[in-house]
Amino acid sequence: MTDFQRPAAPADSSSTSDRVRLYGAQFLTDPAALYSQLRQQFGGVAPVLLDGDIPAWLVTGYREIHQVSSDSQLFARDTRRWNQWDNVPGDWPLLPYVMHNPSVMFTEGNEHRRRAGAIGDALSAVDQFDLRAHCERIADRLIDGFVGSGQADLVAQFAMQVPLLAVAKMYGMPEAATPALVRDVAISLDVGPDAIPAYLRVQEAMGRLLALKRELPGADVPTHMMRHQANLTDDEIVQDLLVVTAAAQQPTANWIGNTIRLMLTDSRFAMTLSGGRGSVGQALNEVLWHDTPTQNFIGRFATRDTQLSGNRLRGGDLLVLGLAAANADPHVRPDLSAGAQGNHAHMSFGHGEHGCPYPAPEVADVIARTTVEVLLDRLPDLALAVPAESLVWRPSVWMRGLESLPVTFTPTYVSAQPGTAAAPGIW
Ligand code: HEM
Repeated sequence: MTDFQRPAAPADSSSTSDRVRLYGAQFLTDPAALYSQLRQQFGGVAPVLLDGDIPAWLVTGYREIHQVSSDSQLFARDTRRWNQWDNVPGDWPLLPYVMHNPSVMFTEGNEHRRRAGAIGDALSAVDQFDLRAHCERIADRLIDGFVGSGQADLVAQFAMQVPLLAVAKMYGMPEAATPALVRDVAISLDVGPDAIPAYLRVQEAMGRLLALKRELPGADVPTHMMRHQANLTDDEIVQDLLVVTAAAQQPTANWIGNTIRLMLTDSRFAMTLSGGRGSVGQALNEVLWHDTPTQNFIGRFATRDTQLSGNRLRGGDLLVLGLAAANADPHVRPDLSAGAQGNHAHMSFGHGEHGCPYPAPEVADVIARTTVEVLLDRLPDLALAVPAESLVWRPSVWMRGLESLPVTFTPTYVSAQPGTAAAPGIW
């Protein structure tokens, strides 16, 4: 039991009154305040309504997220368990998060261990020194593309580009195929009519990549998955390469963008040649506590009627993991204004069997840390081009990232070398 005020009677999965909307203006303007209010009112588990007033539970407590994500027997991952399917319209905006597909994401038990184990082993085989060297080149080439102008939007021109270029390298993707992949993944992760055709093109690209790796194996993720003792089928590998691609892109891009924002707006990270570089690791960690890329995650499904933190849950109820809320839980952060200082016990990568699989967080760290360091090195007088208060967060309940991050710096001329962004098309 937490120290916070509880509702007089336990909430029940069948009631929709008193549920708080997890969408709309109030949520988007100040989500942190809403999480805090929910925690005051309901403790670590709040009855909420998702878009279209579909009921769910938002787990806001650190201990409660730990409990839910540690017990995969009681709180499972297969979205077909959900008890609201009859109420969900065909154009429900959150369908991409819950629509079942045969990827690792929705498997459970031994099948999940087989699939996730192969992903983890394939990612573990990535040479971190090679990855770091490649990320330095990625950052350098992206910076070459805008360094002459003295201004850039570091979200669109930098942060959003980096992770996919790193993934393409880890996949041993032919250089000629990379620009189309980068473009199509970006379109497929957006909402809009082009998203599904773009997703299908990415799927085809993964199929072609796998066929290529069967002929010309390499020291890359698809080849490791093909040779893995899990005996994955081609369809399973394609599905899981798609999951890894999407899982890496947006969170890592927002981690990079939110870190640069913090370093440009917080005097503790003053970007001087003497002070900037040493603080990148600290800024990355603080962002995971305060502005974590995956704010809320769908989720887990109760496998039977049960109780959680004083609430009666029905079998098939959906639990949204409130990762950002858990990171601000006073039980683990009594003083939110204190820095994170080497404390990595946040919930930003989830937890338990279905958490972000080892070593994905380390891979993401190499990508983010290296590219931010190169940026600070190359553009030591980087400054925000607009007042900090006018930066706009994208209106999402799920991901925390900026619409844009306009900056200025002293322009430098870079001659167009083959294989640089100044001479695009070759990566
Ligand atoms: C190279 C970068 C990354 C890769 C390859 C990656 C990969 C994955 C994969 C494959 C899953 C699904 C795991 C499963 O269903 O068993 C996953 C889950 C997840 N990832 Fe990552 N990820 C990356 C970066 C990140 C970053 C930067 C964040 C946030 C800071 C993040 C947060 C999460 C979360 C919250 C989950 C769900 C955890 C849960 O359900 O408990 N990931 N990731």
